[in-house]
Amino acid sequence: MEQTLSIIKPDAVAKNVVGQILARFEAAGLRIAATKKTRLSRVDAEAFYAIHAERPFFKDLVDFMISGPVVVTVLEGEDAMAKNRELMGATNPAEAEPGTIRADFADSIDANAVHGSDSVENAKIEINFFFAQREIH
Ligand code: PPS
Repeated sequence: MEQTLSIIKPDAVAKNVVGQILARFEAAGLRIAATKKTRLSRVDAEAFYAIHAERPFFKDLVDFMISGPVVVTVLEGEDAMAKNRELMGATNPAEAEPGTIRADFADSIDANAVHGSDSVENAKIEINFFFAQREIH
């Protein structure tokens, strides 16, 4: 069964909408194979987003991701990666379809509520970044 990684970002954790976001995953038929609340160090966030290191917003992205705790979740199901990205909506909440997580819970392109793996290959790398195999069921 396909797996993908979701991160509920510090803005959404601070808004106390973790349960509402996880419920949307379940309502869409995805299962929670692993989940935990954690706080990224600067080194963690820079490593996780290394692919964006040269982008102008890299420092802002890292600063934001370490500004508070996050909830990381392994989602499992048919087409889990694509399904999660559909539920999330566009990166910029102003462009996100009504009813998506970002349209409903995100305030800006910087504080955009959730991250989701953008390919099945990256999902494996991102899941390994946060979870040991024994934590995934
Ligand atoms: S791209 O071009 O598709 O790789 O970019 P995108 O997936 O849209 O964005 C990659 C991640 O960077 C975040 N992002 C930003 N952060 C801060 N400021 C600005 N302007 C900005 N633009 C994009 C975006 O939320 C993505 O984070 P993740 O966690 O991967 O969703």
